[in-house]
Amino acid sequence: MVFQSPRGTADILPQDQPQWRFVEQAARRMAYRFGYDEITTPIFEDTDLFSRGIGSSTDILEKETYTFPDRGGDSMTLRPEGTAPVCRAYLQHGMNNLPQPVKLFYIVPNFRYERPQSGRYRAFNQFGIEVFGEQDAYIDAEVIELAWKYLEALGLKDLSLTINSIGDPSCRPKYIEHLKDYYHPHIANLCADCNRRINTNPLRLLDCKNDPCQELIESAPKSIEMLCPSCDKHWNSLVSNLSNIGLKHTVENRLVRGLDYYTKTVFEISPPDDGRMSVIVGGGRYDGLLEELGGSPTPGIGFGMGIERVIENLRRQKISLNQQNEQKIMVAHIGNEAKLEAIKLASLIRSNGGTSLVAPSRGLRSQLKYAAHIKATEVVIIGDDEIESGLFPVRNLANSEQKSFRKEEIINMFTQNQ
Ligand code: HAM
Repeated sequence: MVFQSPRGTADILPQDQPQWRFVEQAARRMAYRFGYDEITTPIFEDTDLFSRGIGSSTDILEKETYTFPDRGGDSMTLRPEGTAPVCRAYLQHGMNNLPQPVKLFYIVPNFRYERPQSGRYRAFNQFGIEVFGEQDAYIDAEVIELAWKYLEALGLKDLSLTINSIGDPSCRPKYIEHLKDYYHPHIANLCADCNRRINTNPLRLLDCKNDPCQELIESAPKSIEMLCPSCDKHWNSLVSNLSNIGLKHTVENRLVRGLDYYTKTVFEISPPDDGRMSVIVGGGRYDGLLEELGGSPTPGIGFGMGIERVIENLRRQKISLNQQNEQKIMVAHIGNEAKLEAIKLASLIRSNGGTSLVAPSRGLRSQLKYAAHIKATEVVIIGDDEIESGLFPVRNLANSEQKSFRKEEIINMFTQNQ
């Protein structure tokens, strides 16, 4: 039997790497442009970090984590999301003592034991950002703007931005009571998930996708109508900040997000064929999380964006990325002496910062076929005559033009643009 990659995981094959590289580099550029610094946290953390951080009644904690005892008997969990680990790092490294806000981004793999389907994997990658220490809603709008500008810069079209406010500990309990009262007479008609969640996580009833619950969601009480004065002020400020920077949005009462740490602002960005599986960006504010993790009260906000979903949408919208033309030089050789010369030349090109490889040891025709297969941009051809004259033909594989140059010229030509 030949092994297969585990269910819900995928290889990123050589032919897909340029697209991944482009998408990740563009993410880094955009994050730097907004003043974010990169952070990378370990792939696994103490399990308690996630039970405290994400909440034990969330789907992730209930059924999706990869949790295992290590050989010392401590319980570890593979990172299912980036926010809790970045909060942990912020506290552990005393970043709360730095001038605030602290703005961080990450591009990291995450692991969730979900039912695999299109756009939903068990191992997936997120580009995420987190901002700590800023209460003002201008930053909520800026966080959303970063995600939006990034997707726009990649060329994605017809995206939609939905926003909501789910209040904070001073107004949410009242809203939740109200929601429960509203649902109570209809318990018998709710789906099994909602029947369970009405006690464990009633807000999640609003984003149920099962048919029997849709009508009830339509007329459910809206969180933005029950905000306390400070959440209401923050919400109004978010809306006017978004308008100020020209970001079109829809207010969506159903938007509650699947993680327990959110307060006030929540948002999502989705492609045209909306559906739970297709949300590209999800994020929001989490003003109580740092305190929950042992820090002093510190506001926080951020988003996570699934890179696989970004790439799938680029494919679906047939967007070919403006990839840099990287030069890749193959040095071909005819004869033993020429081969030694080819090895030396390829090595010199690399030492000077270029990309080059020596052709495989077979006939010239077959070497040239190989050059086309590996998508070399140029081939330098070395034989006895060339060694004698010191002039080496360089063939451009895109237009088949060929011209001869001296060794030093070749090295300069293939290294100066790198
Ligand atoms: P999330 O909504 O769980 O939020 O995930 C954010 C994004 O990650 C999703 O919108 C989706 O693009 C991608 N994603 C999630 N699960 C999968 C999966 N199984 N397969 C493929 N892609 C997936 C969070 O993770 C929060 N930490 C976001 C955040 C940061 N909130 C504040 N700061």
